[in-house]
Amino acid sequence: MNQNITRRDFIKLMGLGAGTLTLSACGLIPPNSRFAVPTTAPVILTPLASVPVSLAVDLTAGRATLPIFSGAETPVWRYQPSVREGSAESIQELSGSYLGPIFRVKTGQRIQVRLKNDLPDPTIIHWHGLLIPEEMDGHPRYAIAPGASYEYDFQVINRAGMYWFHPHPHQLTAPQVYYGLAGLFIVSDDEEAALGLPAGEYDLPLVIQDRTFDSQNEMVYLANGMMDSMIGFLGDTILVNGAPNASMDVRASAYRLRLLNGSNSRIYKLAWQDGTPLTAIATDGGLLEKPVTRDYITLAPGERVELWADFSGRTSGSEMSLVSLTFSGFDNGGGMMMGSGSSLPNGASFDILNLKIGEKGEDVIPLPSRLSTIERHDVRDAVNQNNPRLFTLAMQGMVHTINNRLFEMDAVARDEIVQLGDLEVWEFTNLEGGGGGMGMGMMNMEMPHPMHIHGVQFQVLSRQPTQGSESTYQGLSGGFVDDGWKDTVLVMPGEKVQVLVRFENYSGTFLYHCHNLEHEDAGMMRNYKVQG
Ligand code: C2O
Ligand code: CU
Ligand code: CU
Repeated sequence: MNQNITRRDFIKLMGLGAGTLTLSACGLIPPNSRFAVPTTAPVILTPLASVPVSLAVDLTAGRATLPIFSGAETPVWRYQPSVREGSAESIQELSGSYLGPIFRVKTGQRIQVRLKNDLPDPTIIHWHGLLIPEEMDGHPRYAIAPGASYEYDFQVINRAGMYWFHPHPHQLTAPQVYYGLAGLFIVSDDEEAALGLPAGEYDLPLVIQDRTFDSQNEMVYLANGMMDSMIGFLGDTILVNGAPNASMDVRASAYRLRLLNGSNSRIYKLAWQDGTPLTAIATDGGLLEKPVTRDYITLAPGERVELWADFSGRTSGSEMSLVSLTFSGFDNGGGMMMGSGSSLPNGASFDILNLKIGEKGEDVIPLPSRLSTIERHDVRDAVNQNNPRLFTLAMQGMVHTINNRLFEMDAVARDEIVQLGDLEVWEFTNLEGGGGGMGMGMMNMEMPHPMHIHGVQFQVLSRQPTQGSESTYQGLSGGFVDDGWKDTVLVMPGEKVQVLVRFENYSGTFLYHCHNLEHEDAGMMRNYKVQG
């Protein structure tokens, strides 16, 4: 079979010829194939052409100016939506923000997006977390020139959850996200709807980012040159949904706060300012099995977490703040010489969002004690249970590498090929920090790497810090929420993280990379190929 063929094409071909198909609850499954392995994610394999289009939208990536501060407007890059077909409610704009739009769709729906490039540079959209074929996934090889367009057409097979989209052109992802290009893709399904979680005005998507502005209110990127790109850009102003000093009026009721860390490299240690524990109900790939509480939650770039926040017991006029707590930061070797240069380094504490509690709102339903069913992958089902696929993260010269390699547009190494349907153990070992550090010469950098895999949702199997990395580790590890489906996992300095991942939906070439966007653009990214 042609290796470029997608699973959907494969099913289509099978459907035309064979007549040996069986229908199962999961869709069409050829008998005796590796697809017959029971899967956990919903797999809908109806041929796309037979699914009606629920939403067709034009997204124009272009330049604009917006009033972010008083005084001069800020030049930004943004996606401008225009709905061609389907309900206008599926596309929600964040008024006055460079971010957005927000898609609100349902599992099973077919979505068409026409990306128009009105930017001075090539671009392409990646739908982060969505299970879609390679040609829809925004690999840099599909980037389009200024003036060109790209047609997306895919069915949403993910379970309910908050996914997102952003540019992914070669070496330009970080600046394009930085100047404003990013939006949310919120999926709902029946299982989630049945829970009656806070909705409408009680469902608040919140994108957390950091930026640096100059005295003309213009965004400043990579002011510290090589240091910024080696460590990752850290802005000195925290924004929520594109607004600095973010503050919101809420009612004394329960809210669903959907948080995305949309920053290029900053890690947040999220907490309520008064020490109230946080209640997480969902992560990257949707609802957890049951709510978990944490004193703080660690959120690395690309990761999402959803909180249940019940203000119903709070008095009108009181305030709550979501903050980032101090953590020990990362020891980047030679002290001042290796400092990031940001006046707000990783590990600094700051306010993120101020909430002013108003009148009583909608009656609060109790938080369900059971949110969803998550079938745990069993490591014994992995094809490489005793022989995990190893990915070593290290610094070489001025760049971060994966297995000593940097990104190559079309290359897939022998050890980057997996088989469609297989469950595998992937093991990321971060040599930058702790005892294992190779460092650069005499310097031993401590560098966290949030590792992201395209085209899948995975489960975290284990974490193992190495000797010598404990102090940095303890500052953030209490805030990991590893229970649910993930597409991005923070690998701390000196840490070894194993994930269980099944390549069950589409064959093709996908990316895996560090979601520190400066690291990604500098080459900390590789292709992997799902062979079907
Ligand atoms: Cu959100 Cu390849 O990234
Ligand atoms: Cu992605
Ligand atoms: Cu990295």
